[in-house]
Amino acid sequence: MYLSKLPRASFAQLRSFEAVARLGGITKAAKALHLTQPTVSTQLRELSEAVGVALLTPAGRGVQLTDAGRDLLHTVSRMFGQWQEFEDGVADAQGMLRGSLRIAGVTTTEYFLAQWLKPFVQTYPGIEVDLTIDNRDAVVTRLERAQDDLCVMMMPPQHIALHHTAVMHNPLVLIGPADHPWASARPRKKPLRSLADIGLLMREKGSGTRQATLDFLAQHGMAPSIRMTLGSNEAIKHAVAADLGLAIVSQHTLASDPAREGLAVLPVAGLPIARSWQLVWRRDRRLSRIASVFMDFVQRELAVPGQLQAKAQNAAALAIKRSA
Ligand code: PGA
Repeated sequence: MYLSKLPRASFAQLRSFEAVARLGGITKAAKALHLTQPTVSTQLRELSEAVGVALLTPAGRGVQLTDAGRDLLHTVSRMFGQWQEFEDGVADAQGMLRGSLRIAGVTTTEYFLAQWLKPFVQTYPGIEVDLTIDNRDAVVTRLERAQDDLCVMMMPPQHIALHHTAVMHNPLVLIGPADHPWASARPRKKPLRSLADIGLLMREKGSGTRQATLDFLAQHGMAPSIRMTLGSNEAIKHAVAADLGLAIVSQHTLASDPAREGLAVLPVAGLPIARSWQLVWRRDRRLSRIASVFMDFVQRELAVPGQLQAKAQNAAALAIKRSA
């Protein structure tokens, strides 16, 4: 295509605009791009002058897009997607993969993501991985803002159009202190109703583990009495080992021998809660070449039992099913 007049907007301005629109504010965008706030503000002003209309308006402590801003964001997303394709093509032609892979995982994935990443970064040393670990609600917010190439989570949100691929089982088990009387009840399992009579330790609001536990108990007509709320899997495990209550956690958060951590998996009928982790990405974003290579890599490696799994005895790999 021949442009009679060269666009007056620069790539740097468009990149700042895209980051401000995606992250909802100049401060956050400046931080993400390693620029100063005045630089980003100047770029936005110059971009607006080049286009000839306002692109952003102040909203609360952040900014929001005008109609023209929304159109520009759409255009910029397509342009950047095509640029990415071009860069991927160049890298392919040179037989190397360079760039970055941004992944966000819920907190339970920190127990195995490093093991997924290790052989990948060893195979592709030109790739810089940026991994964020947070609870489910925080990862959903990142998905809303399209901050990552891929996310790993148990419960993808319904309100964002996503592709998802089940990658690994995530059984949620009941744990107690190693000397808990139920631990020696094997092989007889406690009835599920026993959970109605105990105080449970729960993760914070926004945690997928908490939500999955509450959903499961509600399905069985139970509302747990929450004895204590704790903000991490490790805090939960320490509190359980200290005999402060029982908890339901991902089996992947436990050592292969939970007794080493002062814990026992308690046998209860109907448990574990059968869940799985999904690799998810937005339907409206083209998966970058690096992200799709990573997906294929995980898929291939998980197909060989035990290669990537943090704890082979806990983690039977699922056949990877890509959503349509
Ligand atoms: P959580 O996530 O870290 O928010 O509990 C667990 C999950 O959603 O798999």
